[in-house]
Amino acid sequence: MLRNEYRPDKVTFLAVLIGCVHSGSIKEGLEHFNNMSGVHGVEPEMMHYGCVVDLLSHAGELDKTIEFIGEMLRRPDAIVWRALLGASKVHENVRMAEHTNKKVMDLDPRNCGNYVLLSNAYVADERWNDAMKISEMMREV
Ligand SMILES: *[C@@H]1O[C@H](CO)[C@@H](O)[C@H](O)[C@H]1NC(C)=O
Repeated sequence: MLRNEYRPDKVTFLAVLIGCVHSGSIKEGLEHFNNMSGVHGVEPEMMHYGCVVDLLSHAGELDKTIEFIGEMLRRPDAIVWRALLGASKVHENVRMAEHTNKKVMDLDPRNCGNYVLLSNAYVADERWNDAMKISEMMREV
């Protein structure tokens, strides 16, 4: 009866996870992510991790996002950290923005966008001196 069993692959899961990011369905997204390797034997790639980071961080679950990144089996890349940095700015979490900025800079030091995001986070928090320092650093790069 289950001859034509439905076998989702990496691409299916990517589409499903992107759908969850768009609809903000955290619980469902995490379940699909866990089922990928747990039930279907499909190992998640960096882009699948990136979707979960997007999903959690845009919902403002920044601590859960950090926890998730800490448990990743693959080394998170600059894209994963940058997704979290963007969300830290949106949720005006300066502490998290500083932490993630350091990670992004370690991985991808020449990207000016990182400075801009951190500087915006400082401005949102009215930390003008810190924002100024970032602007000066940018001129030196
Ligand atoms: C995940 O797998 C469990 C166990 O097979 C299943 O009950 C659940 O519906 C699955 N979740 C999703 C979102 O597919």
